[in-house]
Formats: sequence, C-alpha cells, structure tokens
Amino acid sequence: MSNYHIKHLEEYYQVYRKSVRNPEGFWEEIAEEHFLWRKKWDNVLSWDFSKPEVKWFEGAKLNITENCIDRHLATRGDKTAILFEPNDPNDPAEHISYRQLYHRVNKFANVLKAQGIKKGDRVCIYLPMIPELAISVLACARIGAIHSVVFAGFSSTALSTRINDSDCKMVITSDGSYRGAKTIDLKGIVDEALLDCDCVASVLVAKRINSDIHMEEGRDQWLQPLLDAASDQLTAEVMDAEDPLFILYTSGSTGKPKGMVHTTGGYMVYTAYTFKNVFQYRENDVYWCTADIGWITGHSYIVYGPLANGATTVMFEGVPSYPDFGRFWEIVEKHKVNQFYTAPTAIRALAKQGTELVDKYDLSSLKTLGSVGEPINEEAWHWYNDNVGKKKAPIVDTWWQTETGGIMITPIPYATPTKPTYATLPFIGIQPALMDENGEEIKGNQVDGRLCVKFPWPSMARTIWGNHERYRDTYFSAYKDKYFTGDGALRDEVGYYRITGRVDDVIIVSGHNLGTAPIEDAINEHQAVAESAIVGFPHDVKGSALYGYVTLKDTGESRDHDNLRKEINQIITEHIGPIAKLDKIQFTQGLPKTRSGKIMRRILRKIAHKDTSNLGDTSTLLNPEVVQDIMDNAL
Ligand code: PRX
Repeated sequence: MSNYHIKHLEEYYQVYRKSVRNPEGFWEEIAEEHFLWRKKWDNVLSWDFSKPEVKWFEGAKLNITENCIDRHLATRGDKTAILFEPNDPNDPAEHISYRQLYHRVNKFANVLKAQGIKKGDRVCIYLPMIPELAISVLACARIGAIHSVVFAGFSSTALSTRINDSDCKMVITSDGSYRGAKTIDLKGIVDEALLDCDCVASVLVAKRINSDIHMEEGRDQWLQPLLDAASDQLTAEVMDAEDPLFILYTSGSTGKPKGMVHTTGGYMVYTAYTFKNVFQYRENDVYWCTADIGWITGHSYIVYGPLANGATTVMFEGVPSYPDFGRFWEIVEKHKVNQFYTAPTAIRALAKQGTELVDKYDLSSLKTLGSVGEPINEEAWHWYNDNVGKKKAPIVDTWWQTETGGIMITPIPYATPTKPTYATLPFIGIQPALMDENGEEIKGNQVDGRLCVKFPWPSMARTIWGNHERYRDTYFSAYKDKYFTGDGALRDEVGYYRITGRVDDVIIVSGHNLGTAPIEDAINEHQAVAESAIVGFPHDVKGSALYGYVTLKDTGESRDHDNLRKEINQIITEHIGPIAKLDKIQFTQGLPKTRSGKIMRRILRKIAHKDTSNLGDTSTLLNPEVVQDIMDNAL
C-alpha cells in the first residue's frame, strides 16, 4: 500500500485513520518520500489555535520551484508542463515543456532580480490567463518574492486596495486581455490604480493584444526585451518552510479584503498530495482546471499541485461561451483531457444550452470530473454526470477555501462512492467538526451544524497580511480551539458531508466570494443613496445572485429608477468589478432594523427568496411598517 497514492476505499480508511492517529508521523513520511528539501525539518508540527500559531516542517529549507520544475528535468524534461490554449480557437495551442518552463522561469526571475526585487518583497500580478501569469508566479517563488495575484476582472479600486494593503513594489501586467470577442484594457486599469499607490516602483508589461497603451517613463517597461536579454540560469533562493509563498485576497463579510498568507513547505506538500489523489493523476494524463490563476483554485490546482507532480496542466485563456458554448468540449477533445475541474456555475450555464454541443465532441478521454467553489445542485450534478462523464467518470465535489489552501472534503474518484450534492468524506489528515449554537461539537451522524476543523493541516493560511488579530477573530474566536470555516454543513447517516452554504454575510455568486459590506459601501457612495442592504437570492446559473435594497436620501422626489439602477451598478463595477453587480435593485422607504439599529437581513433574505409565509419574529423591529411596503414592492 502506498500512502501517497490511494486507490481504494479500504485504503482511504486505513490511511485516514493513520493520518489522524499520528498526524506528525504521517505528514513527515509523505514529506520525506515525495519532495526535494535542501534541509529537513527540526520539528514536523507545532500549533496553538488560541494564538493562533501553526508551523509545519519548521527549520526545513527548500524552494518550491525546485519541486515543481527542476526535479522533473531528468525524467520529464520534454514532457509538456503547461499546455496553453488561447482565447481564439484558430490560434495554435502552446506546449511548454518542463525544460522550457525551467528556462523561462529562470529568465523571468532574473528580470525580477535586476529590477531590485528581493526575497520577501511583494509583487502584484495582474495578468490574464496567459503563460506569463504562471511563469511570473513561479519566478517570484524562485527568488523568494511573495506574489499577490489579483484576478484581472477586478476594478482599479479593488486593485489599488490590494496593492496598498500588502505594499507591493512591482506590478506585472499586460497591455490588455482577450475575453471571448472582447478585449479589456488592463494596462489602463493598472494606470488608474497606481494613481493611489506610492509603493509601486516598477511595472512590467507583457504584450498580448498589441494595443496602443501609455507607458509611464521611469516606471513601466515592456517585459519581452528584458526577458530576451536575461540569462536562463539561476540558482533558486533557499526558503524556510514557513516563509510566505504568496498572499491571496478573499472577501470578508465586513471590512476590506483579507490578504490570506500561505507559506511554503506545508502548502507544497498538501497541494501536491491532494492533487495526486483527488484527481487520480497518472503519468501521461492531461489535466485541465478551468479556474483563473487569480483565485486559489488556480494557485493550488493549475500551478503548484500539478507541477509538483510533474503533470501536464492546461491553461485556458478564454471563456466557455466563445466562439460558442461548445468550447470546453472542443478543448477536451482536442487535447484529450483526462481530468476536468470546473465550477457549478459553468456547468449550469452549459447545461442550459442542451446536449447538442456536448454530444458533438469526443469526451471519451475523461476519467475524473471535478466541481468546486459552491454547492453543486442536484440537477447540475446529474447533467455533468450523464452528459459530460457519460456516467463513467466520477464527479469529485471538492469543498475547500482560499484559507484552507487545498481540498478538504472530497470523494477520491474510483474509491469513494459519490452521492449527488455531497462533498462526501474528509480528505486524509482533515478532522472536521460540526458545532451547535452553544459552541458544542455535535457528534454522531444525521446532524447538521457549523463546519469547523479541529486539527491543523499543512496548507492552512497562517495569518492575514498585516492583521493577525483579524485572522484570530475571524477564524478562531467563534469556537474554542477550532478553525471556523464560515460554512454550514450536514453529516448524513454514513458520515458524508454536504455543505449547505455560508452562515455569514458572504454570498457566492458564480463561484466568487462576495462580502456584502464592501458592496453596500460602494452603493452608499452614490450621492442619492441613504443606505442599502444586499442579500443573495437563488439564480439558475449563478447559484446565487445579488438583491439590493436601497433607500434614497430624498424619497419624495420622483427619480428615474432605471437610470439610478444603472448608476449603482456602475459604481459597484468601479469599486469592485462587474462580478459584484446587482441583479435586482429595489428602492425602499426604509430598511427593517432592530432597536439597536442593525439591519434585519433575515427578513430581507426571505423577501428576496419569495418566502414570506413566515417572516419569523418581527416584534423587535424598530420600524415594522417598512416590511409590508418592501413585500408589496418586491421584485
Ligand atoms: O462556501 C464555501 C464555498 O466557497 C467558499 C470558499 O470560497 P473561496 O475562498 O473563494 O474558495 C473557492 C475555491 C476553493 C466556501 O467557504 N465552496 C467551495 N467549494 C464548495 C463550496 N461550497 C459547497 N461545495 C463545494 N464543493
């Protein structure tokens, strides 16, 4: 039996038991046998959730890129590491071998060094899904710079907030990006963001769409000439296992986005180990995750996890609907994709198109299908299973978070029997707990509660950049000595978990986490708005969509509501990005509030869900009269 590669359910249970009985021994063995360390650890794990402080493989020295690239050169030098599929299907795909990746990462790393970037510096990466994105991520890791990738769909305000929060010295971007039939002026967005950022000394610009852009003298440089002139040799920086590898921002229910800090050794071990098992990757397979590297899914399961296993990982620049809704299936056929990992929102959008396009292509290469980012509804699960996997490729519904770094609850394909809408069993080493309202753990099966994790795992985030207290308050204060996920879950009669959704004010729209507070803050900036409240409501493609209740300062005046709606969505687009736009905006006389002035979101949620038969206790409301008015005018 190999602890590294689990193939049967019995094996899963055996390895799982071992991993929780003796976590240190278990992870030590995995780390020792499957990775390249410059120096081994002095101590496998030390932890204290009350601080919270977690250290894995303390004292160990390594460079993650030596694990993702260098160690494969002898046996996999000519194997494709990154298979780039461009936006336009008529443009050729690019196969970047491990050897080419090695040279390109070294060149990029030398450019970063020449620009004065050193170990520990923060570098913001704001790029479309082109090879330079993966290569710049790896180049940062190679010299020990901390990358902070910002999804290139975020607005200039969102970008500047993130750049400033982690004090980035450099931004790596491109002239623009392709998105289906559209182009986006990325450099223009960066220029605007940088009006508010004093910390950025230089900007490197990759050429993608050949647009005519402004280059700021003394700050901006074209990337290609610098790469051409750089050496393709470089010795990787020696990093401590607990040195930060990257910062990745995620929305909180309140306040500014949280810069989750992931460190090097544990993150590497866990993402590699989960990748191998959750996708059952075999040597010559072609693996494709459709996420963007701007999200954690892309970090862990496009870049680090696959490359650490010497896999071939597909990077797709485009969108599922261009040139038509058959694009995903065309790519699966063209590259004979074996593992396909996507989000429920994409599945629902594709299912809406019927089966003609999915039936047009040969999908027989598919062995494992993955789902991530939000609960997958039963209908989408069956459509995926029947039409994409042809009932032969198991679906792995993987539950995890930006904060967890890697997959936490998931079936192991061909081992764990799947059950629609269930993420099923905890992955090796993961010890979940369901908690009740009194803070007690709920034991036994057929129960539901708030999902926590009671023992550290190697890839957990170590802190929030610059705000450890917020890290403790958000994740470790609700339940003593437990990591609180913010999700609710139920455990069925055999111990399978089903994630029921967020229990805080985070709403997941098309698989993207959106905090309500920052959106409300943006809306409230409109001069006509007095206050606002956002809730989620069910949407057949997005999973959840946003419903905004907005009270105007001057309710008497007759205003052009349609125009106001456009302006409100425009403000949201500018502050956060188009992903946070509201689907419905209802103008209200007031918002239901408690006597202490808190907005009663529970009521607003019910109205948005069209579930008003029982609004629950409204006796504590300060202004019960607004509720009827909101119900009468609900959209
Ligand atoms: O609510 C859960 C939901 O997505 C949240 C984490 O979002 P993010 O940090 O953006 O990471 C997404 C990709 C890992 C979780 O708290 N979520 C994620 N995967 C699932 C899920 N909900 C149900 N089922 C899933 N498989």
